[in-house]
Amino acid sequence: MKTTILFFICECFVSVLGYPEGNISPACNTMLPQHNRYVPQTNPPPYTITVSKTTFSAGDSISVTIQASSGNVFKGFILEAWTLGGNAITGTFSITNSNTQGLSCSGTNSAVSHTSPADKLSIATAWVAPADVGPVKFRATVLKDFATFWSGVESDILMPVQMSNVTCGTQKFCFSNQANCNPNSNNCFFMSAVPYNDGFVIEMSGSPPNPGYVAIGFSDDQIMGSDDIYICTTSSTGVMVQRALSMGHLPPQSRNLSTTGSVITSYQNGVLKCTFITLSSISTQARANTTSYYIFLANGPSLANGQIQKHSQTPSISASKIDLSRFVGSVNAQGDGTRNLVLGHGALMLIAWMTTGTIGMLIARYMKLSANQVIHGKGLWFLIHVFFMILTVILTIIAFIMIFAKVSGWSDDAGAHPVLGCIVMILSFLQPFGALLRPEPNHKRRFIFNWVHGLNALVIKVLAVATIFLGLKLVDSSTIQWLPKVMGGFYAWEVLFYIILEINKHVKSKGNYEVPDKMDHNETTILGIFICGNIAFLISLLVGIGSS
Ligand code: HEM
Ligand SMILES: *[C@@H]1O[C@H](CO)[C@@H](O)[C@H](O)[C@H]1NC(C)=O
Ligand SMILES: *[C@@H]1O[C@H](CO)[C@@H](O)[C@H](O)[C@H]1NC(C)=O
Ligand SMILES: *[C@@H]1O[C@H](CO)[C@@H](O)[C@H](O)[C@H]1NC(C)=O
Repeated sequence: MKTTILFFICECFVSVLGYPEGNISPACNTMLPQHNRYVPQTNPPPYTITVSKTTFSAGDSISVTIQASSGNVFKGFILEAWTLGGNAITGTFSITNSNTQGLSCSGTNSAVSHTSPADKLSIATAWVAPADVGPVKFRATVLKDFATFWSGVESDILMPVQMSNVTCGTQKFCFSNQANCNPNSNNCFFMSAVPYNDGFVIEMSGSPPNPGYVAIGFSDDQIMGSDDIYICTTSSTGVMVQRALSMGHLPPQSRNLSTTGSVITSYQNGVLKCTFITLSSISTQARANTTSYYIFLANGPSLANGQIQKHSQTPSISASKIDLSRFVGSVNAQGDGTRNLVLGHGALMLIAWMTTGTIGMLIARYMKLSANQVIHGKGLWFLIHVFFMILTVILTIIAFIMIFAKVSGWSDDAGAHPVLGCIVMILSFLQPFGALLRPEPNHKRRFIFNWVHGLNALVIKVLAVATIFLGLKLVDSSTIQWLPKVMGGFYAWEVLFYIILEINKHVKSKGNYEVPDKMDHNETTILGIFICGNIAFLISLLVGIGSS
């Protein structure tokens, strides 16, 4: 009888506190008490979570304690281990304390809560670390009473001692100098990063010369200078972590590194490794306000005091800027297929808008008279125009798909280029459909089509010019930015020919009626010269983006 009453009271309190047994799952992710109309306290919690160690290997049992400051006894709690990157519940608790019970949030005993609403000053449990997990922290909601509770009580970060590539892309960002790099092998260089506050949990490994170093650089461009560098180096006192500011092609200048928690280092079988948490945000003395950086991976010899020397090979450089605070993925310097997508995108757009699109438009405007042979009831100029314009739209669509396959989203970094690009895409997509619906040539409303079609073509052309210009600025990493300059030269060339052709057309339209057959078709020659120049510009730009 007594136990029944006690059980009833407990059950009632437990469910009042929001974690009824057996019906826990909806609270797993939010960790908030269910059916509770109160909201969490916003002042700092009077509870702390302490752990027996801040590094772990797979299978380690780590004791975790929720401790109340004096006078703040608590009635209930839920405790879980979360991966820092990817935010997933991980590991299992071994339930030995009868005041605690395991809950199945993601697997058996992946969370712990109280068994009774009795007042507690502290509660201890043990967590068994899984294999292949990135950095982890404990998170708890602690209930002082029904109406007063704190959520998001957090422990220090726990870092895995073993490096693994298994959670690359799901729990951490990884960069390596080769595809499929195993951070424990001595044939490749590897780094990973997980955002933490303003800084990161950073791992790096590789087999540099002995004595030597592995370094990661964060940069606004693909050349050395003003880059934030994190170094893992051997020294006579053991492996150490350093931070530096790259000074062009000179030895980098040492910088203060502010870390928290453990720094895990090792040098075994020629593989040098460092894992640490930097609290400093990346700072490149940036010329731009950005969170995206090119990443360098360098290695080379170092002196006995840990001072690094120039790298042994040219460092690996990421093909694009990467936003570490948002991007979870895997990139490697050699097998980065996305680079080809960007270059393919650029090349197709150039071919479409410098050559096929321009030729198609010029023919419709200036060749109506010279290419007036009738084939299957249509003017030759018309057939050539349709052919080139459809080709242009197809090339644009393929280029569009390529870039979205790469970025799969919107990059703030790219500025106005993607916005203008989408507008050009939509307008050029509409153009052929508008043309299909056009009225007969001598219909009284035909002039509307002529105007809309011509005006849309003009808008597309102007926007395409701006888009390509901005796009070339994005891919051109050289300081002189010669790609946009060559493009500027091309547009001057194009405008010149528009003017010549326009004057020519004007002159002709005056003399037309008098001797139509004797008219010499000099626009064919003009156009021929123009196209030769076009192709020369196109080829130099294609070579330029191919080697950028
Ligand atoms: C004492 C240290 C260093 C010296 C004296 C130094 C010097 C140089 C020099 C002379 C070059 C020109 C290209 C070449 O000769 O291969 C270069 C290139 C490069 N360095 Fe360093 N470097 C040092 C450390 C680093 C570190 C720690 C990183 C990054 C983590 C780095 C990243 C790069 C990159 C990405 C390039 C290729 C792009 C370029 O040519 O600027 N360097 N470095
Ligand atoms: C991890 O390393 C193994 C080699 O140990 C490799 O086969 C695998 O592809 C790597 N995974 C990633 C994501 O790089
Ligand atoms: C770096 O740390 C040293 C010693 O802690 C301090 O004297 C120095 O001012 C710091 N430098 C910067 C740039 O913060
Ligand atoms: C950088 O941008 C962020 C938001 O985009 C802004 O809050 C911050 O003030 C900017 N910093 C500088 C130095 O312009």
